[in-house]
Amino acid sequence: MECPSSWLHYSFLHGFSWFYNFFFLFLIILIFLTFFILRLTKPRIWCNCEICKTYIESRWTNQFSNLCDWYTHLLKNSPTRTIHIHVLNNTITANPDNVEYMLKTRFDNFPKGKPFSAILGDFLGRGIFNVDGDSWRFQRKMASLELGRVSIRAYSFEIVNQEINRRLLPLLQSVSYGNDVVDFQDVFRRFSFDSICRFSFGLDPKCLELQLPLSKFAVSFDLASKLSAERAMIASPIVWKIKRLLNIGSEKKLHQSIRIVHLLARELITQRRKHGFSDQKDLLSRFMSCDIDDETYLRDIVISFLLAGRDTVASALTSFFWLVARHPDAEATILREADKVLGTNQGIKNYEQIRELNYLNAFVYESMRLYPPIQFDSKFCLDDDILPDGSFVKRGTRVTYHPYAMGRMEEIWGSDCLDFKPERWLREGVFFHENPFKFPVFQAGVRVCLGKEMALVEIKCVAISLLRRFRVELAHTENTPRFSPGLTATFRDGLRVRVRARSVNSSELTN
Ligand code: HEM
Repeated sequence: MECPSSWLHYSFLHGFSWFYNFFFLFLIILIFLTFFILRLTKPRIWCNCEICKTYIESRWTNQFSNLCDWYTHLLKNSPTRTIHIHVLNNTITANPDNVEYMLKTRFDNFPKGKPFSAILGDFLGRGIFNVDGDSWRFQRKMASLELGRVSIRAYSFEIVNQEINRRLLPLLQSVSYGNDVVDFQDVFRRFSFDSICRFSFGLDPKCLELQLPLSKFAVSFDLASKLSAERAMIASPIVWKIKRLLNIGSEKKLHQSIRIVHLLARELITQRRKHGFSDQKDLLSRFMSCDIDDETYLRDIVISFLLAGRDTVASALTSFFWLVARHPDAEATILREADKVLGTNQGIKNYEQIRELNYLNAFVYESMRLYPPIQFDSKFCLDDDILPDGSFVKRGTRVTYHPYAMGRMEEIWGSDCLDFKPERWLREGVFFHENPFKFPVFQAGVRVCLGKEMALVEIKCVAISLLRRFRVELAHTENTPRFSPGLTATFRDGLRVRVRARSVNSSELTN
């Protein structure tokens, strides 16, 4: 008979050697992978120049609250308004000539590139936001055609105003009775997600219905965008690539959340096919009518729209209201103009009326000049090139244009560039468009944002509807916002405000 203690001893040793072998194998795979990826990506992990050392040691935080403010400082001090961060292999520019060159003149030499599409690839697949070349050209053509239709503009106007009247205003009305503090950034993120989901998918996630738990789709979409963006913040992609391979940590969570988003989106497409889509007005149904049969491709196209149109609008609205609360004179001008154009106690009736609100438009543009929702945007150089300011760019280099810094350049906006002045956008009271390469907030050139008009209408509808009914007071009075790192500008501590109903009763404003 076998002695129990020797059996125990044997199984312990056996278990231990199994664990030991597994660990050893794991270590070898890890070393091999690191070596292999390092060879492929050839990152420069150390540089002795002052800028790189300040970056690596995070010393910029001694002087600046935000990384974008440090970059602005560096760009202002560069005679060409272009800098190169060696350790990131990133050329950053705030020079409009360079921006025009990369986004228009030599567009084909500055695609989004593989490093970017790798970061968002699992989430966005072959969606417009994440591809170059023929696939991009095809989607761009189809989407421009659909978004240019009068019927889709009317549809987006209808959705936005329904969301405002049925959800946003009642929510704010309820918090205006007490002394409640509400986070406007969170409110706008919920609002813009509901709006863009209805517009793109015909799906209502009801995020603004605060009494309901957030839908699985909304929670997973949020997590998938956040974790995908975090990949971009890791100094070297090796780290997340290894984690993805081993399906551990944040990569495991990312994988799970993407799976849920993709499953739900596919389910929606299947349902739409089953029940018919020809009489539906949302973007998905319109794309389905364009004879795209590949359901994964359809799913990817629409998810790109959700990502593009959600946090950007929420970010623009957040800084808009932060500035409104700090500039009561400008707020009063917005309200006077609204009374004049729309009529006292009259709501917004149609899309065209919005265009006549010149001062409001100027306020929105000025707000995005200083606080662009996308603070910087990168491309990758295909072949060696020389930018108009003489900067040499080696192939494979990341090239970033920086709208946040550009909004603070004296040679673009004059010596008062740091002041908030909506009037700079007006000529004799009428809104005046600046050169888009000086203001690439919606990008510019060949790949300019497709949702620009829609976003502007959405922002202005929210702005007017809220301001005419409520006064907004900041709960905290910091002088400058602190941003969280990410793809879209987000106030680190949210935007905490109190809202007070104005004397005019909301029911008196009739749509
Ligand atoms: C204030 C709001 C917005 C801002 C500041 C903004 C800004 C931008 C920027 C900078 C890009 C270029 C990104 C890149 O190529 O890396 C872009 C692309 C895009 N945006 Fe927007 N966007 C806004 C709202 C929207 C909305 C509401 C939609 C959807 C209806 C939308 C749809 C798109 C699409 C589809 C692209 C990709 C275009 C292409 O690659 O050809 N955007 N946007």
